[in-house]
Amino acid sequence: MNKNFLTLGIETSCDDTGVAILKNDREVVCEFLSSQIKDHSRFGGVIPEFAARKHLENLLPLVDAALKESGIKPSELNLIAVTRGPGLMGSLIVGVQTAKALSQVWNVPLIGVNHLEGHLFAPLVEAADLEPPFLSLIVSGGHTEIIKVNSFGDYEILGQTRDDAAGEAYDKAARILGLKYPGGPEIDKLAKSGNSHAFSFPIPLKSTDKIEFSFSGLKTALLWQVKKFQDSNSELPISDLCASFQRAVTEALIAKLNLAVKITGIKKISASGGVSANSALRDALSKNKNFRAWLPKINRCTDNAVMVAMAGRNSFKRNQNFSSEIIADPSLHAL
Ligand code: KG4
Ligand code: ZN
Repeated sequence: MNKNFLTLGIETSCDDTGVAILKNDREVVCEFLSSQIKDHSRFGGVIPEFAARKHLENLLPLVDAALKESGIKPSELNLIAVTRGPGLMGSLIVGVQTAKALSQVWNVPLIGVNHLEGHLFAPLVEAADLEPPFLSLIVSGGHTEIIKVNSFGDYEILGQTRDDAAGEAYDKAARILGLKYPGGPEIDKLAKSGNSHAFSFPIPLKSTDKIEFSFSGLKTALLWQVKKFQDSNSELPISDLCASFQRAVTEALIAKLNLAVKITGIKKISASGGVSANSALRDALSKNKNFRAWLPKINRCTDNAVMVAMAGRNSFKRNQNFSSEIIADPSLHAL
């Protein structure tokens, strides 16, 4: 009899198919990710119908691979944790229905995970020393929010974006600059050889005393700047534009984290979601004197199944009265 608690995590909320097995609270036994970036980048963004079909093709082979690599039998699993929302409806349904079928066939309990709670747990895989209360910055393609983690399961959203998410802003900026999807990593790469002070893009709401973000004006400011170069037939100083845009996003995020620390008195910050892979943000977070920051490993900033397994395992421990009657919910929000 295996005394370890084994969780199979499944993530299919957007365009990454993720499968992982977690031993006990945070020991990663194996993790697999099949990214569709190459498939979608030729369209300049995620095509929902196509993403769902790819999950269907990829998910069961990844589950098989995880069991094979780990040598774990389905009968040894203690829990299946699957993302139930928010995300793309078709993508979520593939994950949820597959997880339900496996749970019934294998007779393993099933738990639904909020994708945002998954992101919140990503830095905790390595950070056994990060205990609530702490502040969690979730910066992804769909979300930009600062959450006060009173205890695991007790979350307060202190503030969020009024319009675009930070990752969405990166993706739209990249499109304006003629770069490929997803835009964040492209801008990050080009920014390395650019001057971040070459352009001074507006940092909306930076000095208000509310915890809130707005990135849509920043994207428009970039568009006008690019148009000026195009109208005068001048070559785009692309690295400088990337570095300056990245500085503006980073400053907006750091300003509101500083404010959240001031308001709450909590000096422990975790950051997660795709944009937490950004090198300028990681640098600014780790050098900040007002707080200590915990970040996920680069490959666990973006969507993955380890974070889902960890959040599911934690939630299962807290709440034995959970329901396995899960339905995919694309607009699930409240944590
Ligand atoms: O967390 P994630 O994989 O998916 C969502 O839940 O949305 O985040 C994807 C987002 C994309 O918008 C992508 O451009 C952004 O994260 N991203 C980055 C970087 N890597 C990924 N943004 C800025 N810098 C990066 N290095
Ligand atoms: Zn995500």
